[in-house]
Amino acid sequence: MAIRQHGETIADVSRLVGDAVRWPGAVARLRRELPPEMAAAVAELAVGRERATRRFGDADRWWFTRALAEQASHPACAAHRARRFAACASAADLTCGAGVDALAMAAAGTRVFAGDRDPLAVTLCRANASRRAAMVDVAVADALHPPLRDLPAVFLDPARRSGWRRGREQESPTLTEAYALAEGAPGACVKASPALARAEWPAAAEVELVSVGGELKECVLWFGALRSGASRRATVLPADATLTGAPEADGGAGRTPTCPPGRVLYEPDPAVVRAGLVETLAERLGAWKLHPRGALLSADAHLATPFARTYRVLAAVAWSARGGRRVREALAARDAGEVVVKTRGVAVDADALARRLRGRGARRLVVLLAHAPEGVRAYVLEPPAEA
Ligand SMILES: C[S@@+](CC[C@H](N)C(=O)[O-])C[C@H]1O[C@@H](n2cnc3c(N)ncnc32)[C@H](O)[C@@H]1O
Repeated sequence: MAIRQHGETIADVSRLVGDAVRWPGAVARLRRELPPEMAAAVAELAVGRERATRRFGDADRWWFTRALAEQASHPACAAHRARRFAACASAADLTCGAGVDALAMAAAGTRVFAGDRDPLAVTLCRANASRRAAMVDVAVADALHPPLRDLPAVFLDPARRSGWRRGREQESPTLTEAYALAEGAPGACVKASPALARAEWPAAAEVELVSVGGELKECVLWFGALRSGASRRATVLPADATLTGAPEADGGAGRTPTCPPGRVLYEPDPAVVRAGLVETLAERLGAWKLHPRGALLSADAHLATPFARTYRVLAAVAWSARGGRRVREALAARDAGEVVVKTRGVAVDADALARRLRGRGARRLVVLLAHAPEGVRAYVLEPPAEA
């Protein structure tokens, strides 16, 4: 990257990047006014910062390339993880990228060695860490040959090589390499894709599934002294609520009874579902399942929970793809206006159906199509949490 070759200071470049992010015409002007390499570097940093702004809000203070912004941890996840690392006086982030995790650990009071084999990532991480320079040492280093002799607590966030549905060997370092490094350290944490198959979760690790705002973000594997004692955990952010328990058998058919819906329907958070803790949640809520292998829960009494969306059940009718007459009648009888359609394992064009079901009434209702033992049911629901 050409930044330092033309005598510009970091403050100059920061101003140029800020201009390029804020004014659409600025990049074209920079291309006319700056040497081509410099203009390309500023444009790349501007794209990275613009991507990061969508996630960070305060991205003005951050340096990213597009790729590093896309691979950076969600700040809420990084801060949550850092709180567990805070028990360690020092830690090594061996794949630091632009440094979101390293900085979160430093902010939580851990002294961090931040290494990356990519010199550009190291340059950006160093610039990002300048606010906490006393707490973060940054260097070019290969995670497979770390420069520290006695590794303290270790964090690894392998780079994605090929898309979201990552396989064990498609990361850098590979998950096999990451697990070996983690198991050799006194305490360690490996961040993996939440899509990682359960068969790939190492038996030695505590597995934590993390969601932010109802969106599943991370599968976090804790090793050694950084394990909490639970084997499976679902964490819901920003509520900062965490659920632990005995994971259910794969496929979900287990100890929770299946019955028709009561007055309340619970739609568990994806972190709870992916962690295999739906039955643990059912026990907490005194709830039952609507299908033995499904994740939807129901009960008669409403208990407030951060681990599920809660709806009041207004009706439950058989669903027929041919007309949905009974659903329309149920909606009309309940003064439905705008309708939101959700589906669980039922192939339907939800937007088109919502347009067809829209009524003239005043209430905004939800129709949830899901499998029950007696066939597909349409649940007419009032959202959320007013049960
Ligand atoms: C997903 S990014 C890390 C993002 C970082 N946790 C954050 O939130 O900002 C992964 C990083 O791993 C680095 N990397 C890949 N293989 C590596 C290796 N063998 N040694 C050190 N770094 C490596 C890549 O260069 C990339 O910057």
